[in-house]
Amino acid sequence: MKYRSIKGVQDIVPPETALWQKIENVAKRIFKLYGYSEIRTPIIEFTDLFTRGIGETTDIVEKEMYTFPDRAGRSLTLRPEGTASVVRAYIQQGLYNRPAPQKFYYMGPMFRYERPQKGRYRQFHQIGVEAFGEQDPLLDAEMIAMLRRFLESLGMSGLVFEVNSIGCPRCRPPYREKLISYLSDKRDVLCTDCLRRYEKNPLRVLDCKVPGCQSVKGNAPKIVEHLCNECSDHFQKFRGYLKEMGIPHNINPLMVRGLDYYTRTTFEVTSSDLGAQNAVAAGGRYDSLVKEFGGPHTPAIGFALGVERLVVLLSEKEPPYKTGTDVFIAFLGEVGRKEAIRLSEKLRSTGLSVEMGFSGGSLKSQMRRADKLGADYVFIIGEDEIKTGRIICKHLTDGSQREIPLNDVDSFFMK
Ligand code: HAM
Repeated sequence: MKYRSIKGVQDIVPPETALWQKIENVAKRIFKLYGYSEIRTPIIEFTDLFTRGIGETTDIVEKEMYTFPDRAGRSLTLRPEGTASVVRAYIQQGLYNRPAPQKFYYMGPMFRYERPQKGRYRQFHQIGVEAFGEQDPLLDAEMIAMLRRFLESLGMSGLVFEVNSIGCPRCRPPYREKLISYLSDKRDVLCTDCLRRYEKNPLRVLDCKVPGCQSVKGNAPKIVEHLCNECSDHFQKFRGYLKEMGIPHNINPLMVRGLDYYTRTTFEVTSSDLGAQNAVAAGGRYDSLVKEFGGPHTPAIGFALGVERLVVLLSEKEPPYKTGTDVFIAFLGEVGRKEAIRLSEKLRSTGLSVEMGFSGGSLKSQMRRADKLGADYVFIIGEDEIKTGRIICKHLTDGSQREIPLNDVDSFFMK
């Protein structure tokens, strides 16, 4: 074959698209319960937005962005995540003038030049939420309750909620120094990336999956034990609210997240059914980002879910989806075709999904097609049926058959 899709990007075809639609519809329904409205931002932005927003020493910015010059020589990037764009739009559109908190959700493709494997792609899809203008930890807990309700509404179980706090611009620098001095005599076991980053971004070492780096993590100073009073109080209250809401969770002091904008609360939801790429959703607070982007001081928090990972977990549970055809109209002869065309349009206008045999063919081959489509009913229309004004209606699910008046097909369905 001449053309193939690019490595790490996927076609999503029926019947799997039905599962995608279900996930999106459940997300819309659940997010609405918590006051979130949809926001749509461009897939392409100036590169600088992500470099500054996500952080120059992160994996995403250093190695994973799809960046290219446009025809006027400006550097553009396909969005690797949604938060930076939503923050830009929040400021550019003056959304901070609306009553706080402002709550948004989005869904769509993201692009990262990663090594593709199961659950990790170069074009992948996120469903994300962002809430602006409230620093109370009740918002953090409410967001996790919403995430849990969403995942449970899809029938998922066996998920682990992990939380951490990574402090604020006040308590993080002294912690950073402590971590650097702890790591200083362990540099010979760090991977080349961590070695390079260890002074600029030492927290990344805690998140590194390379065995050498893993081996030094255990005794590393824990950030939750070095929080300032305000951050510690915020974290305690957050955990208290989670308890009140009956949300079991673990503290993971090593969870520092791969994006630099986070402050205070961070969280991840993992599933042991996913293998190496086990994060279903992840997020946290980013109380400084709106200000850093030139907006007013605005605390904020959000998360994003990997849709492909949800699909992997759900398609193991869900039966294969059918196309949802209600009626298949099989016809014989030219008069039959005419009547089939008229009837199919009539039934569609009552809201039924109708398919018909296009070029006719034998009754047997049309019945076979109806069966493959998983239609509930087949109507058979030939010259005799038109003469008598009664058509044959077969219920494919139970095999029963009856005659119904051709000019009264709608009321058959009403019944
Ligand atoms: P993230 O942890 O980079 O956070 O991505 C969130 C989720 O997207 C991951 O947990 C995973 O399910 C999915 N994901 C990430 N990369 C891939 C990939 N290459 N292939 C498939 N799925 C992937 C963010 O993107 C933040 N913007 C989340 C956030 C929103 N924080 C605050 N607001």
